Amino acid sequence: MAEWGSYFLQFCIFLMICSHVNGQICDTNDRDGEGNPDSKDNDVDSTPDLALLLDATDNEYKIKCCGFVDAWEFYAKSNTGTLALQVWRPLGGGTYELVGQNTYSVTNTNREIRYSVPVSERIPVKNGDFIGFYTSGNPIVSYKREGDSTDGWTSSTSLGSSTAGDTFDWGSATSFTESREYAINVQLDPGNSPSFTNLGTSVTFLDDTAPNSLLYTVTSIDLDSSDILTMTMTTSTTSFTFDATTGEVRNSGLLPSGSTTLSFRVTDTCGRQSTGSLTIVVQNIAPVIHNLPATCDLSEDHTTEQLLYTINATDSSSYDTVTCSVSSVSPATDNFFARLNSGSTTDYGVYVKALPTLDYDTTRQYDVTVRCTDSKDPVTGTFTVYISRNNPPVFVNLQATTRIPSVSSTTGNIIYTVNSTDSDSNQLYYNMTCVPTGCPFTIHNSGEVLVTSDLSSHTIPGYDLYIYVSDGNTLVGPRTLTVIIEGINSAPVISNLPLSTPVTVQENSPLSSSVYQVLITDVDVGQNHTFQVYSTPSIGSTLFSIDSTTGLISTSSTQNINYETVSATSTSYQLTVTVSDGYDTSTSTLTVSIADKNEAPVFGKETYAISGTEGAAGTTIGNPSFDVTDPDVGATQTYSIDCSSFNINPTTGVVTFSHDYDLDVAGTATSVTCVVTVSDGDLTDNATLIITINDVNDHTPIMGSSSYTFYASPGTGVGTVIGQISATDGDMGSFGTLSYTLDQISLGNEYFGVTTSGDVYVKSTLLEFSSGITLSLTATARDLGGLQDTAAVSVVIPQSTTAAPTSTTDRHVTFWEDPRNIAWVTVASVLLCGLVLYSSYLIVRYGNFPCVKTSYKLNASKVNTTRLPHHDHPKRTQIGRKKRVSESRFDWRPWEWSLPKYSERV
Ligand SMILES: *[C@@H]1O[C@H](CO)[C@@H](O)[C@H](O)[C@H]1NC(C)=O
Ligand SMILES: *[C@@H]1O[C@H](CO)[C@@H](O)[C@H](O)[C@H]1NC(C)=O
Ligand SMILES: *[C@@H]1O[C@H](CO)[C@@H](O)[C@H](O)[C@H]1NC(C)=O
Ligand SMILES: *[C@@H]1O[C@H](CO)[C@@H](O)[C@H](O)[C@H]1NC(C)=O
Ligand SMILES: *[C@@H]1O[C@H](CO)[C@@H](O)[C@H](O)[C@H]1NC(C)=O
Repeated sequence: MAEWGSYFLQFCIFLMICSHVNGQICDTNDRDGEGNPDSKDNDVDSTPDLALLLDATDNEYKIKCCGFVDAWEFYAKSNTGTLALQVWRPLGGGTYELVGQNTYSVTNTNREIRYSVPVSERIPVKNGDFIGFYTSGNPIVSYKREGDSTDGWTSSTSLGSSTAGDTFDWGSATSFTESREYAINVQLDPGNSPSFTNLGTSVTFLDDTAPNSLLYTVTSIDLDSSDILTMTMTTSTTSFTFDATTGEVRNSGLLPSGSTTLSFRVTDTCGRQSTGSLTIVVQNIAPVIHNLPATCDLSEDHTTEQLLYTINATDSSSYDTVTCSVSSVSPATDNFFARLNSGSTTDYGVYVKALPTLDYDTTRQYDVTVRCTDSKDPVTGTFTVYISRNNPPVFVNLQATTRIPSVSSTTGNIIYTVNSTDSDSNQLYYNMTCVPTGCPFTIHNSGEVLVTSDLSSHTIPGYDLYIYVSDGNTLVGPRTLTVIIEGINSAPVISNLPLSTPVTVQENSPLSSSVYQVLITDVDVGQNHTFQVYSTPSIGSTLFSIDSTTGLISTSSTQNINYETVSATSTSYQLTVTVSDGYDTSTSTLTVSIADKNEAPVFGKETYAISGTEGAAGTTIGNPSFDVTDPDVGATQTYSIDCSSFNINPTTGVVTFSHDYDLDVAGTATSVTCVVTVSDGDLTDNATLIITINDVNDHTPIMGSSSYTFYASPGTGVGTVIGQISATDGDMGSFGTLSYTLDQISLGNEYFGVTTSGDVYVKSTLLEFSSGITLSLTATARDLGGLQDTAAVSVVIPQSTTAAPTSTTDRHVTFWEDPRNIAWVTVASVLLCGLVLYSSYLIVRYGNFPCVKTSYKLNASKVNTTRLPHHDHPKRTQIGRKKRVSESRFDWRPWEWSLPKYSERV
């Protein structure tokens, strides 16, 4: 009774849920359509292939519950044939789906037919479905005109034969509102509830079942075969999945241990449902110890904590973590324990603790019970430890001494084999220390002592090797093996490096000049030594080299060392000298410093020239523009000159006169060759400077007197010299060469002439002046530069009857009255005496009197070129003289006659 009550309650809940959706579940007495088809047998449609949807707006032909078609009742009027009895479901927009149809073959007419549908062909219906029918031949179902406009229908001849699931657009078919009641109804049935066929049971799986395994397939059934069933799992779980379509239950991961009950519900179209449950039981698999029992031997003198055995315990479920421990030991002891091996998260080992209490004579066997568990089911295994008596190893051939040659001992050579024995161990282990430490030997567990590096350049003559041997448990030793290395090579020693001060090398030192002799000592006689040198900075290796045999460091044989060039990099070089005797090398350093040496300034040319004009002291002549170069940075140059007449600006090189320089002074040279010296304060260079001085017309001629008075008679013959004018000019040369002219325009005729020497003579007859007259004219003396002076000249011509005083007489008086004239006449007289004497000499010597007159005039150009020797320039003067001598045309007489003139000037 209680079970029935529960079902009833569920049914009521279900009705409440589903009545909203599909309407109430049909009752076995429900029917929709014409209640009594018999009473509507009046007429029948005549159009063949006619389909009707009975959609009367009063919903008479609408199904109003959820269930199944149980039977059809209709009135067959007059035609026979196959009648399709249909249920249509509106989909919206005039479109309907054919939910299902039952066909009935009418063979008898004019009668009411009730067609009871077999269970298997029952059409599932819902609230809101409509009934209709179709006949491919002539219509069968009758009707009666009655009722009102709400009893309408829709007909179509284009439906044709259909199957369940087809859709049809009844909205576009012809609708009628004519009042008709069709003689058909549908009788309904609630149908059957769904149920599970295989629930209410339990299934069992192991905990190692793979994820997503198929655990169970839930199936359900409904007697209404056309009903649609929906299964759901109502238990909320993440461990299991349920596929509502196939009914498959699977595990989403590894199975949870214990039992789990899952609830399910199955629901049909009308909301009828039933529930069921499935219990899944998970069985744990115990862990397995794969490698127990097992045994091991342990020496009684074991001291360290040590892993004895690694337990292989696994659990096939990856859910489970296996832990192991020692649960008991027989006989009881705390010598053994189990723990995770270092570095592992799964492997447990059985260990013996450090400093265990083991004694072969007391206990020779321990049974260690190992317990492993996955925290549910424990398993155990036994590990047996046998205690063994230990005998220590014994050295057989130590202490000992061995001698090895240094030269032929190379890596891998065996120099000694240690022999030791152990009565209960096959494998012995050796190790060692040595003094001094870092010895070039090693010992292998075979007992062989080997060389680990080439000993040919080794310097330590011997080692003590302290050798230990172990049988794995007991360490014995040390015993000493003394190794003496014979024939050790001694490294050469550089005896004179390093130096406390750098070696200085002057720049511009000759190529290959010696810098330093490296000296070595070597206790090994007869060895050849090889020297090498490296420089820092490296450019120094191009400046210095070492003789690889003698060790002499020299300057480069090809490259000059220039301080100014190398100072861009460095003037100090650290030379690393190595010397090798073929086995060992020694190294030392030498610092070489390059010294700056003063280098001479250099003139760019051998000869320079300037020219200027004569002038007073201090006057600038010119700048020779010396192009002097000096390799020394920052060096300053000063100039000097060796000609006393000139000064040179020590800085600029501008040349000036040291004193008044007057070419009009006899013996003053127009061209002087000097030596100019440039000095940087220490070193000098010289060059020739040719200074050319040009003459200047710096003196105006001066008449000897401002006025002259001459006397002539009208009868004085033409050509007669009546007097002399004279002028002087400070200039020498062309600027000192005078010419005279007489201005007698006022006389209207040219009565007088003047010679270049100043003699005034009668040029045309004076007879017309017989009545006596004094003629006035002007005399002009002019040098070749155009400068001039004038003097008034009066020529007194007395009457012809009167004896005219001669010019000479008159002049005589005037002449001697002038003290200046007395002076020069005196000198002239002396010279004249000399001349007479000299003439006499010439007469005596050559018997010929030179013609004084032809040479009396001094040719100015000759004076220039035959100037007296100048103290500045003796050679040049000599050359000039010789040149003149070589010319056969040279006339010495004017030279000698001109001497007095020079004397005069001095
Ligand atoms: C543990 O034992 C299993 C089964 O004998 C074996 O397959 C596995 O390789 C073993 N594991 C180790 C680490 O020895
Ligand atoms: C080591 O010494 C033992 C005992 O003297 C001897 O029997 C054995 O031959 C030696 N082994 C070698 C490799 O010399
Ligand atoms: C030699 O080996 C033992 C153990 O094997 C160790 O205790 C000892 O320190 C080792 N000695 C040297 C010098 O390596
Ligand atoms: C040294 O060099 C000389 C000449 O090359 C050679 O004869 C001699 O054998 C060498 N000595 C050594 C020890 O190499
Ligand atoms: C000029 O220099 C040259 C060579 O450099 C030297 O022989 C000569 O004596 C120098 N002359 C003077 C005047 O210094």
